[in-house]
Amino acid sequence: MFRYVSILLLGSLLLVSCAESGNSKASGSVDVTQDPAYKKGFALVKQSDCLTCHQVDAKGIGPSYKAIAQKYAGSTDAQLYAVSKKIIKGGAGVWGQIPMTPHPTLSSEDAQAMLQYILLLK
Ligand code: HEC
Repeated sequence: MFRYVSILLLGSLLLVSCAESGNSKASGSVDVTQDPAYKKGFALVKQSDCLTCHQVDAKGIGPSYKAIAQKYAGSTDAQLYAVSKKIIKGGAGVWGQIPMTPHPTLSSEDAQAMLQYILLLK
């Protein structure tokens, strides 16, 4: 009898701890808009002309930010650096023949911050 009760107890303890870790995981990963990198990059993107050609979910003149995030998920730092440089230099050929206009007044830091925001949108 004692053994039976302690197995039951152990079982419910395990259940409770699983549920708790499940919850904390969910609340930690859901709201990407609270990420400081999101806030910083989004503020820069809003100030610039990016949103005239890019939308988060849909293709406009440029690819959607979601598509960009998916394409470059798991890229190396060097690859991401090259993509951030492309925001400054502009260019075509990766997504089609329509070119992105250059943004020569953008600093390298700001272009990287914008890209970090885009990468969070996958
Ligand atoms: C005139 C329209 C236009 C504007 C403005 C624009 N983009 Fe783009 N963007 C494009 C197009 C078109 C492409 C696809 C280029 C290609 O196929 O190589 C693109 C591609 C990109 C890519 C992916 C580059 C690659 O090589 O995969 C990123 C990142 C990006 N844009 C970010 C931005 C940011 C950040 C801004 C604001 C500073 C911005 N874009 C402003 C049209 C635009």
